[in-house]
Amino acid sequence: MKIHIIGGGNLGVAIALGLSQFAADRKITVTRRNTSGIQYLEQKGITVNSDNKHNIQEADIIILTVKPYQVDTVLDEILPAISNKIIASAVSGLTLEALQAKIGEQHAAVRIMPNIAAEFAASATCIAFAEKHKTEAQKVISLFSDLGTVPVIDEKLMDAATVLGACGTAYALRYIRASMQAGIEIGFDSQTALAIAAQTVMGAAQMVMKENTHPEQLIDKVTTPQGCTIVGLNEMEHQGFSSSLIKGIKTSLQKIKG
Ligand SMILES: NC(=O)c1ccc[n+]([C@@H]2O[C@H](COP(=O)([O-])OP(=O)(O)OC[C@H]3O[C@@H](n4cnc5c(N)ncnc54)[C@H](OP(=O)(O)O)[C@@H]3O)[C@@H](O)[C@H]2O)c1
Repeated sequence: MKIHIIGGGNLGVAIALGLSQFAADRKITVTRRNTSGIQYLEQKGITVNSDNKHNIQEADIIILTVKPYQVDTVLDEILPAISNKIIASAVSGLTLEALQAKIGEQHAAVRIMPNIAAEFAASATCIAFAEKHKTEAQKVISLFSDLGTVPVIDEKLMDAATVLGACGTAYALRYIRASMQAGIEIGFDSQTALAIAAQTVMGAAQMVMKENTHPEQLIDKVTTPQGCTIVGLNEMEHQGFSSSLIKGIKTSLQKIKG
């Protein structure tokens, strides 16, 4: 299978690196106008090119990872060079209807919302598609299943998926940073504090996913009555921990919806 990624920035490169590591039988091309910063990808077997049309007619799936204002230019450039393609767009705010209208009925539009943990096969890639493109979407699902989980969602939730799944990476990292800062204050050097904080988050996430349980059930296992965990946790809640997170996520969603 040949994958053609247009827009070799943060997300495009993360997907390319993920696919090159976790899906060895796939040939990957990444394009961007200025390729100087991503030439190193060639050493990992990824083709890098500044021409968006480079071998594009051979691609099984074209993935768009450019900014919303760049997408029209890209499509105007590549559409005359392709026929009957699957075009998977990670471009935030670009609806299936708008994409399909732009690319025409001969191509299948699929909407994806991965995150940069795709590089480590740990993305939550939400996907939405029209029923008529179920078969083509299945190929995209199969591809991104190599890079983490692929929840199929109703397209009207795509903005929410952007906030929870893509912006969510930043929220989680801020939690790790705050834990690290606290860790330094209570005695660890920064590297040790970061290593403990990050591993603890990974462990908590793995428990939730592997045990398929509610976080609060697991919290019960950690909180001894009158113990140090519950007093800390309650203090965090008094300071607005859950509330600030919920408000932040809703603010991000308002921003995305304009
Ligand atoms: N970053 C994330 O975590 C994330 C997660 C989910 C979805 N997204 C969505 O993915 C898209 C890309 O986000 P990003 O953070 O990866 O942005 P980014 O780092 O700015 O990457 C965009 C890339 O597109 C390239 N580009 C611009 N015009 C181009 C053209 N005409 N032809 C080919 N390449 C072109 C740019 O490089 P040159 O200027 O050198 O061409 C740049 O490397 C956005 O729509 C974003 O909303 C991002």
